[in-house]
Amino acid sequence: MLSSALSKAHEAILEQLEQRHDAWRPAYHLAPQVGWMNDPNGLVFFQGEYHVFYQYHPYSTKWGPMHWGHAKSADLVHWQHLPVALAPDTEADRDGCFSGSAVVWEDRLYLLYTGHRWLGEPGREDQGLYQVQCLASSEDGLVFTKHGTVIEPPVPEMQHFRDPKVWRRDDAWWMALGAREGDDPRLLLYRSHDLFHWEALGTALGGTREQDGYMWECPDLFPLGDEDVFLCSPQGLRPQGYRYRNLYQNAYRLGRLTDAARFLPRTDFIELDHGHDFYAAQTLEAPDGRRLLWAWLDMWESPMPSQADGWCGMLSLPREVSREGDRLRQRPARELIALRESEHPLAGQHLKSERLLLPLEGERLELEIELDLSTSDAERFGLALRVDPNGREETLLYVDAQAGRLVLDRERAGRGVAGVRSLPLTAGQTTLHLRLYLDRSSLEVFVDDGLHTFGSRLYPGPDSQGVALFASNGSARFSQLRAWTLRDLAL
Ligand code: FRU
Repeated sequence: MLSSALSKAHEAILEQLEQRHDAWRPAYHLAPQVGWMNDPNGLVFFQGEYHVFYQYHPYSTKWGPMHWGHAKSADLVHWQHLPVALAPDTEADRDGCFSGSAVVWEDRLYLLYTGHRWLGEPGREDQGLYQVQCLASSEDGLVFTKHGTVIEPPVPEMQHFRDPKVWRRDDAWWMALGAREGDDPRLLLYRSHDLFHWEALGTALGGTREQDGYMWECPDLFPLGDEDVFLCSPQGLRPQGYRYRNLYQNAYRLGRLTDAARFLPRTDFIELDHGHDFYAAQTLEAPDGRRLLWAWLDMWESPMPSQADGWCGMLSLPREVSREGDRLRQRPARELIALRESEHPLAGQHLKSERLLLPLEGERLELEIELDLSTSDAERFGLALRVDPNGREETLLYVDAQAGRLVLDRERAGRGVAGVRSLPLTAGQTTLHLRLYLDRSSLEVFVDDGLHTFGSRLYPGPDSQGVALFASNGSARFSQLRAWTLRDLAL
């Protein structure tokens, strides 16, 4: 039996589905059927399938009392939408079921999430909030029973206390939480043997407002090879030159989690993605040991033109995470090869101060290309994507040889959005390899086999489907071009 709040959400979804417009709806990324989506939650493999939950407001395309939306997939490619899993319908989660995670134990699926309450008027953070950690469980992975609050804040003044990430370490369950003490961020740890009773292990890592932001949302802590990764979404970092250009960041530190529950960082914070829209990333360990990562492919307070179409928000593609020295490498999950529908034959190019439209069109494309940095002497060279026939719209991805940077420029990418992001090329680098995934309103770029990535939203018009190569004021060589039209899975 569904609770009345869940049946109400279900009806609201069915009603709004009829009015939805699909021009910018992804062909193969996960997006909500209608309404608003933010963070990925509860990533888990349960009874032979991957489950992805997400922060969801089914009643409008604005953030509101948070529900947990739900989808599952057997292959990481085809996703099935499932009924809303959690609605804010108890006193503890009265104003929202905030972000959290999922674990499987003794063949049951457990969700740990933050119960959110406004102390004053809804939405008035200045009037106070109260956040607790809650537990729910399910036998079939569809219908969840709530077990109420399992962790209260350590002190009542700690208002920001959320986003539990739970994992198995040795013979216990461990939980990481993001918290704010005064104006400083904290990573708190807890431990349990039954998921119901939790022992506080204290602060694993603290930061200061000035250096580390004021809050680490959506923490994740996982082993990778012989090190541990502390991943989080810091709020309040100020832009520093090319770094930290988005409103909030997604960043990680490599280091070691001790048995005494302290995280000893070896590196400083490193940005996880260089695009305009990438936040609240979370990971899961797949049955074959791979570490898979999803993020919300949006940013708080950025324009979201699809709100007028009855839906907004989407998740990134699943990425396989590995470590390469001091950096994380992120590759598109290998299963995504199954998205390829047809390949387009393309030849390498040597351009001299010119622009070349490729015999290729589309809004759902995978593209691979190598740029020769050692013999190209153009000032700027690269790709123009989602180009419209009249030259009014395009998104540029190019090497700026004078700055020594790879640039993603969406100043003319379509409706609403703008901004330029970039990353430094390595001195002495001779080639640059790009793998791109274009969907109807997004671009994900994997640079040099995932050593760097860009995740950004674009809202081009329906005619902006062209792809061009260009070299400005000089020559440029492009090789190993491959392109595929990807399937329209209408997710
Ligand atoms: C991150 C976040 C989380 C919170 C959720 C609320 O984007 O602010 O900290 O749990 O979104 O929707």
